[in-house]
Amino acid sequence: MNIKNNKIVLKKRPVGFPKLDDFEIVNETINNINYGEVLIKVIWLSLDPYMRGRMSEAKSYADPVKIGDVITGGAVGEVIESKCPNFIKGDIVEGFTLGWQEFAKINSSLVRKIEPSLAPIQTAVGVLGMPGMTAYFGLFEICRPVPGDNLVVSAASGAVGQLVGQLAKIAGCNVTGIAGSDEKCKYLKDILKFDNVINYKKDNVFKKIKEYCPSGVNVYFDNVGGKISDDVISNIAPFGRIGVCGVISQYNLTQMETGMRVQRAVLTNQASVEGFLVFRFEQKYSIARKRMAYWLSNRSLIWKEDIVTGLEKAPEAFIGLMNGKNFGKLLIKLDN
Ligand SMILES: NC(=O)c1ccc[n+]([C@@H]2O[C@H](COP(=O)([O-])OP(=O)(O)OC[C@H]3O[C@@H](n4cnc5c(N)ncnc54)[C@H](OP(=O)(O)O)[C@@H]3O)[C@@H](O)[C@H]2O)c1
Repeated sequence: MNIKNNKIVLKKRPVGFPKLDDFEIVNETINNINYGEVLIKVIWLSLDPYMRGRMSEAKSYADPVKIGDVITGGAVGEVIESKCPNFIKGDIVEGFTLGWQEFAKINSSLVRKIEPSLAPIQTAVGVLGMPGMTAYFGLFEICRPVPGDNLVVSAASGAVGQLVGQLAKIAGCNVTGIAGSDEKCKYLKDILKFDNVINYKKDNVFKKIKEYCPSGVNVYFDNVGGKISDDVISNIAPFGRIGVCGVISQYNLTQMETGMRVQRAVLTNQASVEGFLVFRFEQKYSIARKRMAYWLSNRSLIWKEDIVTGLEKAPEAFIGLMNGKNFGKLLIKLDN
């Protein structure tokens, strides 16, 4: 075996927003795999906001990537060599740590076989993967919507947000999506049939929420934190539920922000705030996956991907993700 592998490594830790020179492409030769390992030709990379945390040294739920190491991340690929009886050449697999590289030599316990007939294989890191599970469990287990609820979701056109809004419509909610451009808002309203949309870069979020949810916000699925969330939570309804999924507005700050104090609104409305990490629900993924695949097949769910081609484009695309340039689930299609 003599496989030439190009990979993108962390050259230095980003300060604030990541920059292109924080990353570097290096190559190596893979000569062998060990017993229990598989060699995977990577086909799709998933770019996700949590990866920014892994580029920092700060303690988090995911271990930091070391300087010089390949950028860790979810991916889908094809087994081209196996020294594990559970996998054969040609199996399509997904793994959370395959990383930004053309070939991954990895312990087979870290990948899962996927069923290509279910949906296009890249959905294993999208609607049928981590973002899809986040939307499903965050909404149904943390936010517990009931028909008639006013539900607000931020980063509404992204991987998680687009699904949260559509699942909430299935659950009978009045859905308001917050996103960062008119194009994204138009898509949410016209194609995904959200009831209301707010462009947070142009509109007064606090006033718009008041207008769209006059009886208050029963459910807030929070993907962003910061000022947008202050404005939503200030409008929380009695016994409202706030699911804290992500705080992307904070990931690149070099100094902590101070803002409005929302505890009074939480207290007087007896609202609940619960943070969650999707892995909490891992044991139940297979059931959720079946439901999501069913809704996808009968077009109850529409799934938008934003595809960039070429491994070398991953750093630029990731920087774009941090700035709202992606429109839908951001994926890199490898062209090796
Ligand atoms: N808890 C969990 O287990 C879990 C799992 C997956 C994801 N998450 C979190 O869920 C959130 C969404 O993730 P995703 O994968 O669906 O990403 P995404 O929405 O596809 O992409 C991120 C989006 O965030 C928006 N954004 C960026 N900076 C912002 C800012 N300062 N203020 C407001 N919006 C901003 C941008 O859209 P606009 O154009 O609308 O600004 C951008 O497109 C992230 O916070 C992520 O960390 C959590």
